[in-house]
Amino acid sequence: MTSHDTDGSTPLENLMTEDRRFPPDPDFAAQANAHPEIYAWASADPEGFWAEQARERLAWTTPFTEVLDWSGAPVARWFADGRLNACHNAVDRHVEAGHGDRTALVFEGEPGDTRTITYADLQRETSRAANALTELGVRTGDRVAIYLPMIPEAVVAMLACARIGAVHSVVFGGFSAEALRSRVVDAEAVAVITADGGYRRGSASALKPAVDEALAPEDPSEAPTTVRHVLVVRRTGQDVAWTEGRDVWWHDALEAASDEHEPVAVEAEHPLFILYTSGTTGKPKGIFHTTGGYLTQAAFTHDVVFDHKPGQDVYWCTADVGWVTGHSYVVYGPLVNGATQVIYEGTPDTPHKGRWWEIVQKHRVSILYTAPTAIRTCMKWGEDIPGQYDLSSLRVLGSVGEPINPEAWTWYRRVIGGDRTPVVDTWWQTETGTIMISPLPGVTTAKPGSAQTPLPGISAEVVDEEANPVPNGSGGYLVLTRPWPSMLRGIWGDHQRFVDTYWSRFRGLYFAGDGAKKDDDGDIWLLGRVDDVMNVSGHRLSTTEIESALVSHPMVAEAAVVGASDPTTGQAVVAFVILRSDYVDRVDEVGEGADVAATLRAHVAKEIGPIAKPRTILVVNELPKTRSGKIMRRLLRDVAEHRPVGDVTTLADSSVMDLISAGLDKPA
Ligand code: WT7
Repeated sequence: MTSHDTDGSTPLENLMTEDRRFPPDPDFAAQANAHPEIYAWASADPEGFWAEQARERLAWTTPFTEVLDWSGAPVARWFADGRLNACHNAVDRHVEAGHGDRTALVFEGEPGDTRTITYADLQRETSRAANALTELGVRTGDRVAIYLPMIPEAVVAMLACARIGAVHSVVFGGFSAEALRSRVVDAEAVAVITADGGYRRGSASALKPAVDEALAPEDPSEAPTTVRHVLVVRRTGQDVAWTEGRDVWWHDALEAASDEHEPVAVEAEHPLFILYTSGTTGKPKGIFHTTGGYLTQAAFTHDVVFDHKPGQDVYWCTADVGWVTGHSYVVYGPLVNGATQVIYEGTPDTPHKGRWWEIVQKHRVSILYTAPTAIRTCMKWGEDIPGQYDLSSLRVLGSVGEPINPEAWTWYRRVIGGDRTPVVDTWWQTETGTIMISPLPGVTTAKPGSAQTPLPGISAEVVDEEANPVPNGSGGYLVLTRPWPSMLRGIWGDHQRFVDTYWSRFRGLYFAGDGAKKDDDGDIWLLGRVDDVMNVSGHRLSTTEIESALVSHPMVAEAAVVGASDPTTGQAVVAFVILRSDYVDRVDEVGEGADVAATLRAHVAKEIGPIAKPRTILVVNELPKTRSGKIMRRLLRDVAEHRPVGDVTTLADSSVMDLISAGLDKPA
């Protein structure tokens, strides 16, 4: 199929020999939100099915009469003549229904501070913040960048934007000043909401300096010109530099604002948010989502995939709001469904490796949604750690971000789920907005390692190079064959890239970029990316973006980056670099080895963010290239994964691989 599939780096064989089955527990099935019949209903009339979900699950200020308009394909319009407000649906509606006293957020700060925020509190806070933003000149349709730690203000800031119809662009707090700057520029944001800092790994980690640097970079010609204000949440109390006239304390602005605000009803197709994600080229793509369809599918999937019962469950999705999982399954899905949820600021091992399980025990968490990399890390730490806590409140476990290997799946169910809970492996993307392929708890007989079945109303296929569906038992490319409500409406400011990236490979089909296989029952097994996108700890990273960061350092002449399989993080970034000859001549002065790697790792962290730092940097004299000059990453992956190097016949110079392999006993 592709280099990725044939080079042995996918665990196809392991997956296909996995034959454990976990049928639904009858007691669970009897109370489940999902029923087997919804598949038939939805496939008989997908548009009618989604229209019903949109009407039942959301409050519309103007009801829609149109369902899907696909005449402008590949840009879909769903429920386009309806109007609604996302914050009203996530917050006010529950207060109006008499649930104002229900806890919406239970916040656990990393140092141990906690806050409980009810839906009535959220209504007041989002109203104040909406009034404050308006006071600062932010208008419906304006873009606002949010660069915050995982604290309640992050949720409030997103909802406050939605409340006034401003488009939020959340930038993960772990991204660099440079990454923030390029996103602010691309979206032409008028304001940035940030904090002095947040707590991470036991200490206060500053955020505001990165905003200052992003807005006033060394080269003034690169400075964003659209930002008028920076709202600063005080979280850690650390010192911050202050730009008079531009910077405003969040607490001052909110205190001065009224706690009453009428949410602005927007058209269903009004943009709700932009979220940047890595693609195959250097420049991140601003994926944008709109309001009505997105909220419909977020609410539906959160309800049926997690079997969520408002007022009873305590839900915890461990994702940061900087990722799409945090948008759909911390903010919009759960809040539209009136959930009570935990949000946690810090890392799982601060101050000790049982922190997550302590939180589950303390708040009686009943639904937990996390990533395979976290599960594998816990496996590594040992099951006696979760064994010290009472996890009996858990009743549904979810996984997202990358393929979950069957061993991690069964460990998750046995150790965390007490050999009792359903586990749902949910496949989706920033672009799909919400979950697309997943078992349904209480309905599906689970197969560890497989996302299995497109959700009701969703049509997925695995196709070959010519877009023909592959027979059961075969592999190919995952495509989505019909429009879905929460699909991306485009790449911000770059329609052509949207068409080229997703709609050109297979005519009329959405190409997800993932390889997949259908087993003998037709269930789908995801096999990883088939493009130059890596998946490290469930986070998407572009090989090209990291390569550009590396070559922007004066000591690097050329760089090639590959994702090598890693037992904990799924994939790890491995970089092959050729140093510049003038630098190599000076190596003795500057010091070789570890220093080169440390310097370049720090440089990548500065350019993109610490998550993009290569795990391994190998200094080489040559890179394997085809006669047309294309780097053969497949061969580098063989080297990085310590495999015999595959077919080298298309290399311009086949001795290059011998040289590289020979030099590898001394990684930098
Ligand atoms: C890519 C999307 C979806 C939110 C988090 C990541 C991979 C995601 C699974 C899964 C196998 C998965 C895919 C996809 N992926 N979930 N359950 N099984 N692979 O969002 O950063 O947009 O990345 O993550 O490769 O294309 P994202």
